[in-house]
Amino acid sequence: MRLQDKVAVVTGAASGIGHATATLFAREGARLVLNDIDALGLERVTSALGAASCRGVVGDVSREQTSIALAAEAVSSFGQIDILVNNAGIHFLKDITEMTVAQWDRLMDINLKSMFLCCKHVIPHMLARKRGAIVNLASISSFIGQEMDGASTFAYNITKAGALQLTTSLASRYAADGIRVNCVCPGNVETNIVKRATPEATAQFWRAAVASEPIGRNARPEEIANAILFLASDESSFVTGCPLLVDGGYLAR
Ligand SMILES: NC(=O)c1ccc[n+]([C@@H]2O[C@H](COP(=O)([O-])OP(=O)(O)OC[C@H]3O[C@@H](n4cnc5c(N)ncnc54)[C@H](O)[C@@H]3O)[C@@H](O)[C@H]2O)c1
Repeated sequence: MRLQDKVAVVTGAASGIGHATATLFAREGARLVLNDIDALGLERVTSALGAASCRGVVGDVSREQTSIALAAEAVSSFGQIDILVNNAGIHFLKDITEMTVAQWDRLMDINLKSMFLCCKHVIPHMLARKRGAIVNLASISSFIGQEMDGASTFAYNITKAGALQLTTSLASRYAADGIRVNCVCPGNVETNIVKRATPEATAQFWRAAVASEPIGRNARPEEIANAILFLASDESSFVTGCPLLVDGGYLAR
């Protein structure tokens, strides 16, 4: 098993890519501390994975108290933190001229500040053991001025460009300390993230997304989890600062 004796913290684990990652990590032998703001969804996931190797911390990961609680739970329950997956995120559609300051702040807080906070509170535990792997969820949106049916995703794209830069900066800062920092950049993955942003546009969006994919379909969350597992495991021991595209050839067009 590729994560035997490892302890992993995964944010946004109640659905989509986070759920698939938690499930795969558990199968590979990891002990888990999972977070989500969705208490019911998180309870479903943690009880399916079993109390002996899985803990849940409900909370808004953009608030510092949640990242402090996540690190504390991992250390008190399992004694260490080997892996952090910064996965929680929301989507948002709004042109710059329509977006309120509150909407901008919410997107930056949940998608980007959460990554800063979790790294801030997890890295000291990794430094103490001179080992660790951090995987951030960036996106094809880290690289492009993507739009969705004419509605701008500019602010989401900025958060994902930030996730890429956070990855690069922390990778070079901590490489000599045994901490690797990488990001996965998925293409279109059929999860609830679009439904949460614009319920009425969901079916149309995924149809348009398929049409834009050279590979001819959207990804399954499990296909992104496989890439996260690679970057989290010792199989990627010489990989750091890497944006791993898992996009069906989207950016290669
Ligand atoms: N689905 C895609 O096409 C796609 C593409 C590229 C990147 N991503 C990224 O992958 C990550 C996971 O997204 P997903 O597609 O699985 O979406 P999802 O909506 O299925 O899952 C996101 C999870 O994050 C949780 N969450 C939201 N706000 C939170 C908060 N404040 N605190 C704690 N948890 C919170 C949600 O409850 C949900 O369980 C996100 O960072 C997203 O930006 C998704």
